[in-house]
Amino acid sequence: MTTAPSAFGTDLRPLFCLEEASLHLNHGSYGATPRLVLEAQRDWRDRMEAEPSRFMEFEFRPALRAAAARLAPYVGARADDLAMVENPTQAVNAILRSLDLKPGDRILINDQTYGAVRNTVRFVCTMTGAEIAEWTLPFPAESPQQALSAFETALAQSKPRLAIIDHVTSPTALALPVEAMTAAARDAGALVLVDGAHAPGMMGLDIEALGADWYTGTCHKWLFAAKGCAFLWAGPRVIDRLHPAVISHGYLNGFHEEFDWVGTRDGSAQQSLPAALDFVDRFGVEAIRTHNHALAMAAGRRLSAAWGTEMGQPESMVGSMVMVRLPDGYGTGFETARDLRLRLLREDRIQTRVNPLAGGLYVRVSSQIYNHIGEIDALADAVLAKRPNA
Ligand SMILES: Cc1ncc(COP(=O)(O)O)c(C=O)c1O
Repeated sequence: MTTAPSAFGTDLRPLFCLEEASLHLNHGSYGATPRLVLEAQRDWRDRMEAEPSRFMEFEFRPALRAAAARLAPYVGARADDLAMVENPTQAVNAILRSLDLKPGDRILINDQTYGAVRNTVRFVCTMTGAEIAEWTLPFPAESPQQALSAFETALAQSKPRLAIIDHVTSPTALALPVEAMTAAARDAGALVLVDGAHAPGMMGLDIEALGADWYTGTCHKWLFAAKGCAFLWAGPRVIDRLHPAVISHGYLNGFHEEFDWVGTRDGSAQQSLPAALDFVDRFGVEAIRTHNHALAMAAGRRLSAAWGTEMGQPESMVGSMVMVRLPDGYGTGFETARDLRLRLLREDRIQTRVNPLAGGLYVRVSSQIYNHIGEIDALADAVLAKRPNA
């Protein structure tokens, strides 16, 4: 039975371990795991330690496969095409290191590509002589069409071998028109990797229909899994050529054999994924998404009204996170952004992100089922109280 969405908000805080009297408006960075899921994770660890050899040799991999099977319908994929990995950085490393990149091949990224992904691209380019092509994703964003047009121009100019597309950008929380971008990249003859770190649980997903070659997403952000639970999907053009970044016993024994065993490790975050999906089902994935989107939009409107500024994106590019510009005078650089974030944390116990963008500072607010609009008002006031020379 699902719980009515009206139950969302403060009443749900006790289901999580979040510190009392803190305002957690940064779910997007690392998620927050419900107590029940952590208990299920502990059970998996206990099971492992009760008989380590039996568990590692006979139970570890079937439990990963069971997690993939449970995840499959939530992301629109076949379990056979899903590998469980710990995070998207591992997935991107596997993909890029499996490609036979050659001098002159171009990899298309943008100025908001996640830092770890960008570094992995830099690394493989240094190793192979391939080149990085970078396009500028407009921010503040006006429309999905604007992002698509800029991407199409970049495709035409760079003719990449591989295009990396964010489903939701990290520094700017833009939900991109990933279907149209994937189609454009394929039409341009590129392989397509979609970095969907934020998408599962935040956006409706039909990975198979998307037509990309690889898709990676986390379960520990918006699907409530324990930290270290993510997946890598591979399509028919590439699945046979894909290897994990860590080569182990399963080398050349097929996709699952290779990815399910990358050396002895604790797989409990992935093995307890079914408990996280039980938690999602208790409320309904649609109801969670709808609540989070509505709260993000309410946050965007309240904060921009309180600060006399603008949101960083239109509603059609908002998932469960929103960007709002701070008033002038708060600075423009990384140092001032960091200082403000730390002051909010120390003086007001508000956890959020502050990013330097477009010649000013923007706050990125994440909304999750334990948040409520009163917390947004507290953030609005706390920022105003720190107004330089106020
Ligand atoms: C766009 C994007 N890609 C990838 C990642 C993955 O980071 P990690 O592998 O450190 O979990 C994130 C994390 O927030 C992200 O926002």
